[in-house]
Order: sequence, then structure tokens, then C-alpha cells
Amino acid sequence: MGTLTPEQRLAEQGVTLATPRRPYSLAARLLFATLDAVYGKDRTMSKLKVLELVARVPYQAWEQVSYIAITHTQGRTELARRIHDRVVEARAQQDNEQWHLLILNELVDQRGIPEDRLHFTVLPQVLAFIYYQLSWVLFIIRPAWSYRLNASFEDHAEHEYMELVKENPEWENEPFETSFAHDYGTYASLADLFRQIGYDERVHKEESVTRMAEPRFS
Ligand SMILES: [Fe+2]
Ligand SMILES: [Fe+2]
Repeated sequence: MGTLTPEQRLAEQGVTLATPRRPYSLAARLLFATLDAVYGKDRTMSKLKVLELVARVPYQAWEQVSYIAITHTQGRTELARRIHDRVVEARAQQDNEQWHLLILNELVDQRGIPEDRLHFTVLPQVLAFIYYQLSWVLFIIRPAWSYRLNASFEDHAEHEYMELVKENPEWENEPFETSFAHDYGTYASLADLFRQIGYDERVHKEESVTRMAEPRFS
């Protein structure tokens, strides 16, 4: 993902907050409504952690389908190469979501935020399982549908992070210490960190929007 300066991150937060959300599909609205019903409407680190856990699965689904597609390219090396490039892209985004998840895990732990097993271990896995199946089936039927759902998901995440920073002005002066600095970089403050995560979500969204417009592999 593109690494920005703290000033650029601040400017990007302004861009997100000034941009209306995408028109969400029924499936996306159902997912966000479920998250609100189970975890409350308030933006919290714990709720965003659940979002990150679910965020990885479309990339996993696309990767799996792409590997199957490569198996069936039967000597069409150009096509196999193009599908493989998609696999590499999906894997990079999956890893980026993984860092988001690990950093949020660490923050929740550091702050001693209580989380019960049902809401923060069992239900997220159920949600992730359903979302994986949905992403997988849509990708098989029509890849653009799966990319569109992910674009909605990423757009929602981008706005949630940028709104979260706005709601917590005290985070501007709160240092961010992490054991993942080597992997995800260092940040001027907690606010600065969350702006980078929000910006990553926008990059994910834009990649899915680009993919939506492309013809399927043949
Ligand atoms: Fe994320
Ligand atoms: Fe994302």
C-alpha cells in the first residue's frame, strides 16, 4: 500500500469525509446492519477488529478460485500468467488486512478492552464463513458482482476509520507503539495510524472498482 506522510494522511481523511459513500447493494447493507445489530452502532476498536477479520475473506476466495482457474488454462500460458498476477494482488491485499487485524488485536489487548468469546471469536468466524461463501459464489457466477460487494465493504471500512479518528480528537496526541512497526511502519500518533488504515481501505476499494469494469478471463 502507498505509504504517506502524516500531512498527506490528514489530507486523505478530508477527502474521505467529503466523499459520499458508494450506493451499497442489498447484500452489503444487510451485512452492515447485522454488524450494527450485533456490535452496536458506535465505532469501537473491537467492532473494527471484527470488520478486519471478515475483510480478508473475499481475497482468500478469489485466490482459491484463481488457482483452480490456473489449473484449467491447459497450456495457455498468457492467460495463466494474467490469472497469477491477480493471485499476487489478492495475496498482497489479504496481507495488508492481516496487519490491520493484528494491530487492532494488539491495541485491544494493550487497553484491556473486555471481549467475550461469543461476540469476538465465535460470531466473527460465522460471519466470515458466510461472507467467504457469498464472495466465492458471486465470483464464480460473475466476478464483477464479487468485486462490487468488496468495493462496498472497503468503502464502508474507509469511512468508518476516518469517522472514528474524527470522533476521537484526543488520539492526535496519543503515541502509537506497536510490535508490528517493521511490517506496517511507524506513525506520529494513534490518529495518524488509523488514517493510514482508512487510506489502505480506499486503495482496496479502488482496486475492486477497477476490476469490476474489466472483462472476465477467457
Ligand atoms: Fe482493513
Ligand atoms: Fe480493506
